[in-house]
Amino acid sequence: MRRRNMRATTETTTAADQEGLYAPGVDHYTSPQRRDAVKQLWEEPVTFKILEYALSQLPRGKRLSVMDIGCGAGEGLHLLKALRATRSVPDLPRLTYRGLDLDEGLLKLAARTHHDEDDAQFWHGDIRTDIPEEPFDMYLSCGVPYSHLSADELLDTLTRLFKRVSRHKAQSVVVIDVLGRYSLEWVPNWGRARWPYRMSFFHSEQQADDVLMTFWDAQALTTCVRTASASAGCRVSQQQLFDRSVMVGRHTATGQFNPKLSPYRLLVNRLENGMPVATDELRMPEVPDEAPDSIRMFYSGFGHRWNAVLDYMSQRSRDLEPAVAGPMLARGLRAVEHTMASGLGAGHSLTAVITLDGRQ
Ligand SMILES: C[S@@+](CC[C@H](N)C(=O)[O-])C[C@H]1O[C@@H](n2cnc3c(N)ncnc32)[C@H](O)[C@@H]1O
Repeated sequence: MRRRNMRATTETTTAADQEGLYAPGVDHYTSPQRRDAVKQLWEEPVTFKILEYALSQLPRGKRLSVMDIGCGAGEGLHLLKALRATRSVPDLPRLTYRGLDLDEGLLKLAARTHHDEDDAQFWHGDIRTDIPEEPFDMYLSCGVPYSHLSADELLDTLTRLFKRVSRHKAQSVVVIDVLGRYSLEWVPNWGRARWPYRMSFFHSEQQADDVLMTFWDAQALTTCVRTASASAGCRVSQQQLFDRSVMVGRHTATGQFNPKLSPYRLLVNRLENGMPVATDELRMPEVPDEAPDSIRMFYSGFGHRWNAVLDYMSQRSRDLEPAVAGPMLARGLRAVEHTMASGLGAGHSLTAVITLDGRQ
């Protein structure tokens, strides 16, 4: 079952309204190259940690209702099913899953892919206006759909969502996935919060178009959530922020917005696959003085550890062949990412997990 197409009613249209914006996305989501070593070993563990944390915030029931905001091809459902399959959340209840998205092509792919097990439906609609009235246990998002919205639109959308939770005296967890403002991938654009972005990393013959996206840091996102919660009269009982892909975001490989940056993702994929890499190319870059203090301090501590791993490993692995030395070095660097990323907006994506208690 799919909901009727409901047109956006807001004045400002997001580029996702543009016909065919995600046409190359259909090829990308079906390409085996999409799940490279970095995605599997660096990114997905962070995503799973976020989901495990989000699930831990909810009382265990017989079913778990999930609304996947900007679901695209249904990646959120894949992730939840993977959590159950890998037994990291063995008692994950059966799902009532609803995906909401504007893109017909991705929704068709989602419906083709997920036609079994759990109760899953994919609805065509706009996240700014078409989130249904009935409350869900989890409002999931992944793949930064909320970054399509302007800051005002995100505020309106969250306010509307929080009001539903409050009206129904529900307990819900809201996962808000956005692009990180201070990723190394786009240092030249750090001065502005909304700019034309391009998903040129899609594995597709078709060219990706420019699309206006909003980039968030911890402070701006927290303010947006607090304002929405105050105007909706819905209490936020917990908030946790997570950075994902500090050094290995997909645009480190394209060089699209920061051509001076080393292609870290390509290099790390080579390491993980046991291929030779000149370790000098992996050194941490300089971060501009104009960056906010918290961001400069973060990168300074992070870079110190990252470079220390490079120095240590290059001295000790001189006599080892790349098939052994590469994965060893990659493992050390990965540990730096996984232990130091701290939810500031200093990665490719920033994810807020908001626990709402609408009962008071
Ligand atoms: C990068 S994709 C992520 C898709 C999926 N969640 C994933 O992780 O693969 C962003 C999605 O947000 C959707 N989107 C953007 N603006 C939207 C809006 N206003 N309403 C509904 N969906 C929207 C796009 O169509 C696209 O499918």
